Amino acid sequence: MTGRGDSRGEKGLLDGKRVVVTGGAGLLGRCFCRGIVAHGGVAIVADKDFLSASLLAEELNSTEEKRAAAFALDISDAESVSALISFVEERFGGADALVNNAYPRNANYGRPVEEVSYNDFCENLSLHLGGYFLTMQRFALFFKRHGGGCIVNMGSIYGTLPPRFSVYEGTSMTMPPEYAAIKAGVLQLTRYFAQSFKKDGVRVNALSPGGIRDGQSESFLEAYASFCGIKGMLEPIDIVGALLFLLSDSSRFVTGQNLVVDDGFSL
Ligand SMILES: NC(=O)c1ccc[n+]([C@@H]2O[C@H](COP(=O)([O-])OP(=O)(O)OC[C@H]3O[C@@H](n4cnc5c(N)ncnc54)[C@H](O)[C@@H]3O)[C@@H](O)[C@H]2O)c1
Repeated sequence: MTGRGDSRGEKGLLDGKRVVVTGGAGLLGRCFCRGIVAHGGVAIVADKDFLSASLLAEELNSTEEKRAAAFALDISDAESVSALISFVEERFGGADALVNNAYPRNANYGRPVEEVSYNDFCENLSLHLGGYFLTMQRFALFFKRHGGGCIVNMGSIYGTLPPRFSVYEGTSMTMPPEYAAIKAGVLQLTRYFAQSFKKDGVRVNALSPGGIRDGQSESFLEAYASFCGIKGMLEPIDIVGALLFLLSDSSRFVTGQNLVVDDGFSL
């Protein structure tokens, strides 16, 4: 922790840190942005859904003046990522951290393995893993030019764990093969970038939640919870503490790691 963070305790964990959150208007992103601002940071809500991003920035600025901004971003478009970097430089004089958190998928995403076409597989990898690569590459180079920075990539337990198909029985959900490939790729790119930029003061870590509650049926939640410890499927707020740690100076010598938050599901 730095400066006022020490005397104000947890509230100042991110004092003054400017954090770009891609997909910042989504289920986890919204909660991340609220946590960043509540702990002294500035949240740049960068999302394809500009309306939702703007509403969230407005909400955050109504309590904490000028500590949030919205940006219309497409992580799979190099010009859009460059425009985001120019935006944070002009508006906030730069950025200290990136949370690679967007969740792009095409209309056919989420099908069982036997129904996934080659084109859909490639398109979803390109949008998600390709977009994470592009955003991470541009921000790592930007941070290197400015003396350092921090990147947190959103992974998933399914980046390392084989699918637990049994929990999806009797539901229309599954764990799609694209997701396994994307998140395994995100975790290995995390190590690749951490190694590439560790001499430049750029830390790169992954945060891997288990499944997050989002209106799933009780029977699914029960099946899922049978593999967990004390809670079962977690809520977005349960992931925020781990993100704040990875963004903060408390983790200043942590790089290339994957922090799993899943109430023991993957054990
Ligand atoms: N929800 C879960 O159960 C869960 C579990 C583990 C990991 N994760 C990971 O956490 C991250 C966030 O997941 P979520 O559940 O909050 O997703 P979400 O779908 O609720 O939100 C994703 C956000 O990304 C935005 N987005 C989509 N395409 C984009 C693009 N091309 N450029 C910029 N923004 C774009 C959407 O508008 C949306 O606001 C993802 O990486 C996901 O894989 C989620």
